Amino acid sequence: MKIGSLSPPTVLRNIGQLATCPADAVQQDAGLIDNAALVFEGNKITWVGAEEQLPDQLGKLDFIDCGQRLVTPGLVDCHTHLCFGGWRGDEFEMRLQGRSYQEIAAAGGGIRSTVAATRSDSPVQLADKALKSLQGILDLGVTTLECKSGYGLEKVAELKQLQVYRQLDEQQAIELVPTFLGAHMVPDEYQDRRNEYIRLLCDELIPMVSEQQLAQFCDVFVEEGAFSLAEAEEILVAAQIAGLGLKVHADQLSNGGGAQFAASMGAVSAEHLEYASKQGIQALADTGTVAVSLPLASLYLREAYMPARDMLAAGVRVAVATDFNPGSAPSYHLPLAMTLACINQQMTPQEVLSGATTIAARAVSAEHRIGSLIPGYEADIAIFDVPSVNHWLYHFQANACCGVIKAGQWERRYL
Ligand code: NIG
Ligand code: FE
Repeated sequence: MKIGSLSPPTVLRNIGQLATCPADAVQQDAGLIDNAALVFEGNKITWVGAEEQLPDQLGKLDFIDCGQRLVTPGLVDCHTHLCFGGWRGDEFEMRLQGRSYQEIAAAGGGIRSTVAATRSDSPVQLADKALKSLQGILDLGVTTLECKSGYGLEKVAELKQLQVYRQLDEQQAIELVPTFLGAHMVPDEYQDRRNEYIRLLCDELIPMVSEQQLAQFCDVFVEEGAFSLAEAEEILVAAQIAGLGLKVHADQLSNGGGAQFAASMGAVSAEHLEYASKQGIQALADTGTVAVSLPLASLYLREAYMPARDMLAAGVRVAVATDFNPGSAPSYHLPLAMTLACINQQMTPQEVLSGATTIAARAVSAEHRIGSLIPGYEADIAIFDVPSVNHWLYHFQANACCGVIKAGQWERRYL
């Protein structure tokens, strides 16, 4: 930026409750300041504190009156499968009639049917559909979103999803963090030669995705019917060599030692963990691997919820995300996932807010830059039409968000 073209500071005053969510705080402490003010210049936060301590020169500037509302860091949804073809409403009905998620998958539905639809959709169709979701996601106060491939399961269609993410990252305000999930399932055409699919991933796709900088992370679905621990290790070692960060879909439908595995691989996050064991939880605590809870998947599959209290008691950081996808979690509503984490996982509103801001940022290795409202951090800010975090997550509304700032730019403003 040229000298002289710096924008003047923007001053937010009369904030009822400001949640600063510092990266070094314990999870139950969202860094709340009542009757606060916040200042940003360009794309950076420059001052936060109690309004009565606002320095004189900042107090003289024009300001935006937040009307005693809640101000938080822009929310971070650290686990989604944003780009997919088709939907699976018929499976929803089948599950309600008593068929299980695994049964439907084994009969050719589930992830397989989304793979067929994603392969046949054009990049434009996929991008238009994902863009529509992103507009609704931004409305809710989300400013950063992790998004996985994994519905292509072949070179062309996996790259197609990642290229859609690259295009959308430039085209709209939410910052996208792409993850390569070629190891979501072994596609039908490789069922009798799984090892060849694993070679394709390790020898061709992972190096290519990394070289073209199409993904920052590599994820593997470790589960019966998906990938074994030994296969996942092969894949994640290749990812590590290629310079990608590691993530694992672990212990979602059964305890398969996924949490210990994620920790032992040095993964930045282990996700789902509904059936994580005591030893698995301890392993995550020992390595600082973030546990990503996905309460919407538990809700829709009528499955167990991640044992978040046990995780927190052991010293594990717990992020909360949506898992938005057409099967197990067909909703991108992060505040709904947050309220569910309170009710079904006995997490406090402050724990949940930390989990959808600074800890979610940690799950995408960005906690030094986003997810906190601290001087020097990026000016990603959400404003909610409620007086406090407790009130927000207790009084569930279709959308309480009334202002969104991404990198210092207003993207939504209804105040
Ligand atoms: O995170 N667990 C695996 N993958 C997704 C579900 C994908 C789907 O059902 O299409 C999940 O729940
Ligand atoms: Fe998922």
